[in-house]
Amino acid sequence: MRVVVIGSGAREHALCVALSSDPAVSALACAPGNAGTRSVAEPLPVDVTDPDAIAALAVTWRADLVVVGPEVPLVAGAADAVRDAGIACFGPSAEAAQLEGSKSFAKHVMTAAGVPTARAWPVGGPAELETALDEVAQLDPGAPYVVKDDGLAAGKGVIVTTDRDAAVAHGRAVLDAGGAVLIEEYLDGPEVSLFALSDGTTVLPLVPAQDFKRRDDGDAGPNTGGMGAYAPLPWAPPGLVDEVLATVLQPTVDEMARRGEPFSGLLYAGLALTSRGLRVVEFNARFGDPETQVVLPLLETPLAGLLHAAATGTLADVPPLRWREGSAVTVVVAAPGYPEAPRTGGPVTGADGDGILHAGTSLAPDGSVVAAGGRVLAVTAVGPDLAAARQAAYERVAGVRLAGAHWRTDIALAAVEGRITVG
Ligand code: AMP
Ligand code: GLY
Repeated sequence: MRVVVIGSGAREHALCVALSSDPAVSALACAPGNAGTRSVAEPLPVDVTDPDAIAALAVTWRADLVVVGPEVPLVAGAADAVRDAGIACFGPSAEAAQLEGSKSFAKHVMTAAGVPTARAWPVGGPAELETALDEVAQLDPGAPYVVKDDGLAAGKGVIVTTDRDAAVAHGRAVLDAGGAVLIEEYLDGPEVSLFALSDGTTVLPLVPAQDFKRRDDGDAGPNTGGMGAYAPLPWAPPGLVDEVLATVLQPTVDEMARRGEPFSGLLYAGLALTSRGLRVVEFNARFGDPETQVVLPLLETPLAGLLHAAATGTLADVPPLRWREGSAVTVVVAAPGYPEAPRTGGPVTGADGDGILHAGTSLAPDGSVVAAGGRVLAVTAVGPDLAAARQAAYERVAGVRLAGAHWRTDIALAAVEGRITVG
């Protein structure tokens, strides 16, 4: 099977590593890829925002399967274009990707499907913004305000704050930029990311993971695309995956099919385990980053066959997934200034070892690796337990050099120390 992965982040590097170890894969490409994916996948230039260019590349390269990594091409219709060209594609249609592309669309689907989620108030203008904030403050006095950009914002469109002025300022900034705003009820409790493969009918959950959205230790600082992750979750209540499958994933996939927009690809449920039960924080329509970097190294079942089955409506025929014993941890090494104003171009050394997945890197003309994005590397290790995996990941981080780089030092620490409780 000839497989091409679309995208250029650490998620795509992780996908390429997993696919390259699948004997069913005869050729592997990553378009456009980065300095790290080149070691396992042929680099192919492409504009990922152009669905026709992606489909044309798949045809020219004679791909049997296209795996779309990021949300931007999916929302733009890349999977539709590839399928129209007669090639199997792992990833939802543009319509189905609205589960991620529009938070208000996702709310409508969840309401129709009876899926538990935060109450939300759509806001069309500045006056409604103040009224909605008053209303949530009355319902849950003292709880932080949650103000969201309704559209795609690379994980940076949400503010969670007790500072009313900051909440108003964020909402106004989104409205002024022509966007729509959603105010939400605050959800307490630990967060879980659960990925599931779907072929539009059958849903196959993977192992739960947790990511770290804030920039700094102790969950301080601004939201980012994700600063680290670990899997599985030693503190997860037994039966969590079955519960999410029954109350969230399957009802959502069924509702999308009922609407005539079957969801095939990767359904990512971002969940909060609140004192009042589990709630969906958000859906994404693709593999999460950085959670993919810890989920895939634990998967023993060859990946290409699974993604192909999801893309071709045959997931019901797949035998139960096999998982490796142990845990995985990934630590994101970010460029100076990330997330507000990352400074790229700095030389990166020590980034070619085992488990060092490239996020934002490129090759300089002299063949050396330079930082090319805000998140530069996702340094990953697997170990017999979470403590061992964590230690191994941080040992690998210590071998990397990028001037001014920063990373969190507490990824998976609370879980290792048994400090996470579910209400
Ligand atoms: P989202 O882009 O919707 O995933 O939001 C980014 C992050 O903001 C989430 O992972 C949560 O940490 C936080 N967040 C979003 N919605 C809520 C909510 N209703 N209550 C509490 N935290 C939230
Ligand atoms: N881990 C967050 C995301 O992929 O959106």
